[in-house]
Amino acid sequence: MELFVSHESSQNKEKAFILAKEFDLKFISQEAIDKRKYNQSYFFIYQSKHSFIRKGLGKLSKDIYCNFLDWSVSFDDPLLSRCLKGLPDKFMALDATAGFGKDALEIAKNPKCKSLLLIEREKWLFYLLQEGINNAADKDLLQLINKFSIENIDSFEHLSKTRKNYDLIYIDPMFSGVGKSKAKRAIQTLRDLTQEAETEGLLDLAIKRSSKRVIVKRHKNSKFLEDIKPSHSIKGKVVRYDIYNSS
Ligand SMILES: C[S@@+](CC[C@H](N)C(=O)[O-])C[C@H]1O[C@@H](n2cnc3c(N)ncnc32)[C@H](O)[C@@H]1O
Repeated sequence: MELFVSHESSQNKEKAFILAKEFDLKFISQEAIDKRKYNQSYFFIYQSKHSFIRKGLGKLSKDIYCNFLDWSVSFDDPLLSRCLKGLPDKFMALDATAGFGKDALEIAKNPKCKSLLLIEREKWLFYLLQEGINNAADKDLLQLINKFSIENIDSFEHLSKTRKNYDLIYIDPMFSGVGKSKAKRAIQTLRDLTQEAETEGLLDLAIKRSSKRVIVKRHKNSKFLEDIKPSHSIKGKVVRYDIYNSS
């Protein structure tokens, strides 16, 4: 599905145009949008501090962005928390498929987590991540966000080059067409707008580069990533976490 870059206020038009070029996406100025024609299209709406993704341009469509404050108080994933048990104090983690950073925030909530590198290869998504981090002002949230650093690169490339050893590497590849349940809005947006292709060999490399554990998020009915059998799995109603222990 196509993603266009646009703006709401006319003073943001020029910057939206420049961003479209940076992102390699098409720019449409607000005045030129035919609401009926673009009813099902996605838009990256540039605003000076708070850009967002919107599907269609109807009043009912909800803005999608990295809402770290909301997620820090109203979301938790007990299953993912369980997967982190037994990691060492001050563990250093890498989220190889950061997306909107929601799972990364969950990992950062673990008091033993010292630092977390979020890698996201899509430029527009990286921009939203950066903005979400910059907009974090709440004191409690900042304690989590301060653990973050971010990089706009393919994580396979990063892992091939880095000399760092991560205690934990987290991978959440896209899964689709496995279950009947409708994905939440933000995840559906990622499914529609990001390349679904899995990076071949990413798990194999992650296992070599992690000193303690690799966690892979899958749909509960999906086959093991790269057909590599995990040490064990933790299964929920919809997702399954496959855990690969290094030692
Ligand atoms: C299912 S989403 C992850 C959602 C994320 N866990 C969250 O909480 O928002 C997968 C994301 O990983 C990114 N991605 C996939 N393969 C990647 C790779 N090899 N390097 C960097 N990013 C990758 C995709 O662009 C997409 O945004």
